Amino acid sequence: MSYHANEKGYYGEFGGAFIPEMLYPNCEELRQKYIQIMEEPSFKEEFNQLLKDYVGRPSPLYFAERLSKKYNAKIYLKREDLNHTGAHKVNNTIGQILMAKRLGKNRIIAETGAGQHGVATATVCALMGIECVVYMGEIDIARQAPNVARMKMLGAEVHPALSGSKTLKDATNEAIRDWINNPVDTHYIIGSVVGPHPYPDMVARFQSVISEEIKAQLLEKEGRENPDYVVACVGGGSNAAGAYYHFLDTSEVGIIAVEAAGKGIHSGESAATSALGKVGIIHGSKTLLMQTDDGQITEPYSISAGLDYPGVGPLHAHLFKSGRGEFISITDDNAMKAGMELSKLEGIIPAIESSHAFAVLDQKKFEPSDVVVINLSGRGDKDLQNYIDYFNL
Ligand SMILES: Cc1ncc(COP(=O)(O)O)c(C=O)c1O
Repeated sequence: MSYHANEKGYYGEFGGAFIPEMLYPNCEELRQKYIQIMEEPSFKEEFNQLLKDYVGRPSPLYFAERLSKKYNAKIYLKREDLNHTGAHKVNNTIGQILMAKRLGKNRIIAETGAGQHGVATATVCALMGIECVVYMGEIDIARQAPNVARMKMLGAEVHPALSGSKTLKDATNEAIRDWINNPVDTHYIIGSVVGPHPYPDMVARFQSVISEEIKAQLLEKEGRENPDYVVACVGGGSNAAGAYYHFLDTSEVGIIAVEAAGKGIHSGESAATSALGKVGIIHGSKTLLMQTDDGQITEPYSISAGLDYPGVGPLHAHLFKSGRGEFISITDDNAMKAGMELSKLEGIIPAIESSHAFAVLDQKKFEPSDVVVINLSGRGDKDLQNYIDYFNL
C-alpha cells in the first residue's frame, strides 16, 4: 500500500482537488510545476541554506532523561520548538515563499489558527519584502494575542474571520475567497497538509526535513535510524506528516497521531476527527471531517487553537482508514496536565498543541526498550495566558 500522493493527489480514497473553476489555473500551474521547482538544484540550495542559517536547523533530537525514567521508555523530543518563530510552521513557509517567487507572485495570503503559521508567513514575507495578508478567526485573535502583535510588527495585515465558529475553518474560507478574487498575482500559503492537491503533498515534502533529521540523529545516538514509535499531534497534520514522512513505508515504525478531544469525544465540543469524522469534502480535499447527517460541517472545539479544525489532511485520513496510524484523542485537561509535567520534568514549556502529543505517555504503555520520538512542534510562549488562566498561576 502506498502512503504517498498519486499524480492526482490521492492517498487511497482521500485527497484530490475539489476547487471552483476560478482557482483551477492556479492549482493546475502549481501542480504542474511544484516537483520540478523543488528538485531544481538552485531551489534546494536556497531552501537548505535558509533552513540552516535563518531557521536554525537541524533542530536537536533531545533525549528526555527524566521523562524517560517516569514512563519507563527511551523518549526523545524533536525540538521544532527551537526553530526561528517557535514552531515547525516556518519549514513550510520558507519553502512556499521560494515557490511563490519562482511562480512570479507578488502578494501572499495565509490562514492561521494558533497564529504560528501566520507569524511564519509574515516572517518570510518580511524577509523577502512581499505584501502579506493573514486571515484569522476572531476567537483565535483573542486567544493568541501575542502572535497577532508579532504578525503586525512583521508588516502583515491581519483580517478577522467573523463567520461560523470564528476559528481556523472560517479563516480558511476567507483566504480561499480572497484567492478567488485575486488569482493572478497572489499565492496562497496554506499552513498544513490540507487543501486541494498539490498542497498536502507539497507541504508534507517541505516538512519532511523533520524525519530526515530524526533518522540521522537516531543513527548517531542509538545506532539505528528507526524509532519504535513516532508521536505527533494532528490539527491539519503538517508537523505529523513531516515527522512520519520517511518512516511511512517502514512498517516496524509505529505511527501515533494525537487529536484534540476537547471536553470529551462525545461532549459535542471536540476536534477528534478520526473518532467522529465521516468522508466529505472540506477546503478542496476529500477527507474525514466532522459533519452533521445532512453534510454540514460541525463546529470544532479545542483549548488549542492549532488543533481546532473539523478535518484532517488526506494523508492522515488514509493512515487512519488503512490502520497504518494509531489515532488517540486527548482532552483539554489531559493536554494541559501533560504540558505542565513537561515544564516541571524537563524545563520545556510546550505549545498546547504539542502538549496533546505528550499526554499519550499517560494513555499508552511502552516497553522499556522502546525508542519513542515525540515531535515537540512548538513552544509555549504564545500560550502563556492560557496556562495562567487554566492553572491560576
Ligand atoms: C505548535 C503547533 N503545533 C501543531 C499545530 C497544528 O498544525 P499541524 O497539524 O498542521 O502541524 C499548530 C498549528 O497552528 C501549532 O502552532
